[in-house]
Amino acid sequence: MLELKDIERCYTNGSSKTYVLRYVTANIQEGEFVSIMGPSGSGKSTLLHILGMLDAPTAGAYNFLGEPVHTFNERKRAELYQQYIGFVFQAYHLIDDLTVYENLEAPLMYKKVPAQERKSRIADMLDRFNIVAKKDLFPEQLSGGQQQLVGIARALIGRPKLILADEPTGNLQSQQAHEIMDIFQKLNREDGVTIIQVTHSEENARYGNRILNLKDGQLQA
Ligand SMILES: Nc1ncnc2c1ncn2[C@@H]1O[C@H](COP(=O)(O)OP(=O)(O)OP(=O)(O)O)[C@@H](O)[C@H]1O
Ligand SMILES: [Mg+2]
Repeated sequence: MLELKDIERCYTNGSSKTYVLRYVTANIQEGEFVSIMGPSGSGKSTLLHILGMLDAPTAGAYNFLGEPVHTFNERKRAELYQQYIGFVFQAYHLIDDLTVYENLEAPLMYKKVPAQERKSRIADMLDRFNIVAKKDLFPEQLSGGQQQLVGIARALIGRPKLILADEPTGNLQSQQAHEIMDIFQKLNREDGVTIIQVTHSEENARYGNRILNLKDGQLQA
């Protein structure tokens, strides 16, 4: 499903070049549940953003479902993203001036899901994540954990083929974290959704079938 060949991401500052990712080569098959681990600053979020087509590599090739993403412009990448990917951001990225309900509705509007179907999917998500009472509140009126739940619900609501999640349970209590991991595992096993998560937790990583370890921007054997 995803093929990475010598992916590199560097930042140029004057005459100095900093490599955040280098020589990253990996294949991820449809139906896998992969965990990316590694120290803070090792490039995990950067890699996830590239996989999610929200950022582009400075060198290397990235094929997604056979499409050469590294040759695409931003608009074409955004189209692929909207069609196939649900992204859970490390910093939630909810839209401040939309309510919880509207935040969940946004990806469905992009996908042109009809109104009745939008309503029922949103109701289902609010219910599943136990945030029905919060539906008319704005993100700033929620706790960090509640914002995280909305961020996860928003990533799942479009029924993506690929879920990319950057420390999806970082701000949740352990009981809630287990529930989220159980939801991911069920989506993976029963619906065949491919999942790639960044996590610092060995326990979370065990829900997946494989671990990729990043260190100083490179994958470790
Ligand atoms: N715009 C930028 N300019 C220069 N360096 C950057 C920029 N954005 C990120 N970096 C650097 O890239 C490196 C990797 O960052 P990244 O956010 O991918 O790390 P991470 O593994 O997700 O860390 P964490 O576990 O703390 O979330 C960091 O050293 C960071 O300073
Ligand atoms: Mg990060």
